[in-house]
Amino acid sequence: MPTPEAASAEPHRDCPICPRLVAYREANRAAHPDWFNGPAPSFGDPEARLLVAGLAPGRTGANRTGRPFTGDFAGVLLYETLIKSGFAEGRYEARPDDGLRLVDCMITNAVRCAPPGNKPESSEEANCRPFLTARLAALPRLKVIVTLGDVARRNVLRAMGLKASAGIAGHGSEFAAGAYVVINSYHCSRLNTNTGRLTPAMFEAVFQRARELLDGPSA
Ligand code: URA
Repeated sequence: MPTPEAASAEPHRDCPICPRLVAYREANRAAHPDWFNGPAPSFGDPEARLLVAGLAPGRTGANRTGRPFTGDFAGVLLYETLIKSGFAEGRYEARPDDGLRLVDCMITNAVRCAPPGNKPESSEEANCRPFLTARLAALPRLKVIVTLGDVARRNVLRAMGLKASAGIAGHGSEFAAGAYVVINSYHCSRLNTNTGRLTPAMFEAVFQRARELLDGPSA
């Protein structure tokens, strides 16, 4: 049965749905009462035409600071790339009060609570999906979705009532899904960037393509 929260785009701080994630949150609250320790709310422009979908908050990153990708290693490349491509303004200083502003862009996660080992279980992805569905529905101007990694790609498609196989896997793949165009990217995780699987140039190209889809080719 859907929970009363299911129609909301953001779970409340004490979302009770996933027992394993609740236990992890409680353990983190006990060990670090000064951390955020809750579902990291989506961040950005409610009129955004671009949505960036990540996997889940890192324990010492978004789970600590309360802003997606903020304090996570992955956030450095993500926010720098968003600034370069005009989807963010200001300076990223890895804290939620750094004044950084997203422009025509919002960032969310497929799973809103930090999972142990950064790995959500498929039941947790399914539990959290109604929030993603509601997040998409609450963005009236949304046109392009950048999915960071395959978990995000699959969950975005399923959140739209589509099969995961409706979209092409792999870095740089692009496909229509409902009213949106989805561009899939490798996740900007430390593992992917340190191994050279994802370079800053590859990542920038994804957001340049998003820019082109939104505003047309640059002169
Ligand atoms: N990685 C993600 O996918 N999301 C975050 O919020 C942080 C790191």
